[in-house]
Amino acid sequence: MVEIENLIKKLREIVPLNVIERFLSGIQKAIEKKGDLSLAYHEVSKLDFNYYGIDLPYSRPSQFWKEYRGECIELPKPPEKSGVDVFEAIKARRSRREYTTKSLTLEQVSAILYYTIGVTGRAWWGGPKRAYPSAGGLQPVEAYLYADRVEGLERGLYHYHPGRHCLEVVKLGDYSRELMRASLDQEHVGEAPVVLVLTAVYSRTASKYGLRSYRYIHWDSGFAGQNVYLVVEALGLATVTVGAFYDDEVCRVIEIDCLEELPMLIFPIGYRK
Ligand SMILES: Cc1cc2nc3c(=O)[nH]c(=O)nc-3n(C[C@H](O)[C@H](O)[C@H](O)COP(=O)(O)O)c2cc1C
Repeated sequence: MVEIENLIKKLREIVPLNVIERFLSGIQKAIEKKGDLSLAYHEVSKLDFNYYGIDLPYSRPSQFWKEYRGECIELPKPPEKSGVDVFEAIKARRSRREYTTKSLTLEQVSAILYYTIGVTGRAWWGGPKRAYPSAGGLQPVEAYLYADRVEGLERGLYHYHPGRHCLEVVKLGDYSRELMRASLDQEHVGEAPVVLVLTAVYSRTASKYGLRSYRYIHWDSGFAGQNVYLVVEALGLATVTVGAFYDDEVCRVIEIDCLEELPMLIFPIGYRK
């Protein structure tokens, strides 16, 4: 059992009193709304004329993506055109939960990753511009690809390196069942030839936006998520967003620290049935 008095004492050592007061007033509002505690965060992360959030002790990120040591498997160059009009793709996009057993190709994987979070240009100061817009240009979203059946790729879990457009091996092996279990046993996750997991590295955004960052990382991820739907549509494949998952289980399977990097969205991807 957490000792509330002790907790508040510790909190006061690192968080300014006015922020704690806002949070407590948020809890009070949450009580009025029958205990919906998410409102307390909403209150404390609201901006107004007198309040711009607080600077958390995060330093500016030195890079915009994670890097694993070791081999990075080169992906084919992504296609320049899909032949599908963007208006048509937006209209035709649907959440599709049934896939054939057919394997995906490396070309398809390359297109999905590149048009979801790939580096599509350069900023005036030389830094990367990405396929998804990002609050403050801080680019917190990371992509992990579980390849169950991809031609030319050993079954296993990979991390996408956007700077080099290649796949870093996290671990080889069959993780279909574990990902399905982590997604509340949703069968489409267990059956798909590919499962894409989007996460967000919290400190990248928090280095600038403090308390408001928990909002921003979800907005950023949502934009990347819509990219997944549209590129999958343009390739004639099928996907669905999965937001119902056990966070700690997802973190365990993809081997990330859930306090540093937060699982955002999961996308099983395959051929349409
Ligand atoms: C944030 C979010 C989380 C979702 N989570 C799930 C999920 O866990 N499982 C699922 O089958 N569908 C999930 N969906 C898909 C929705 O059910 C689907 O988008 C909705 O029914 C509308 O259908 P459409 O995408 O075909 O327009 C999610 C969608 C969003 C945007």
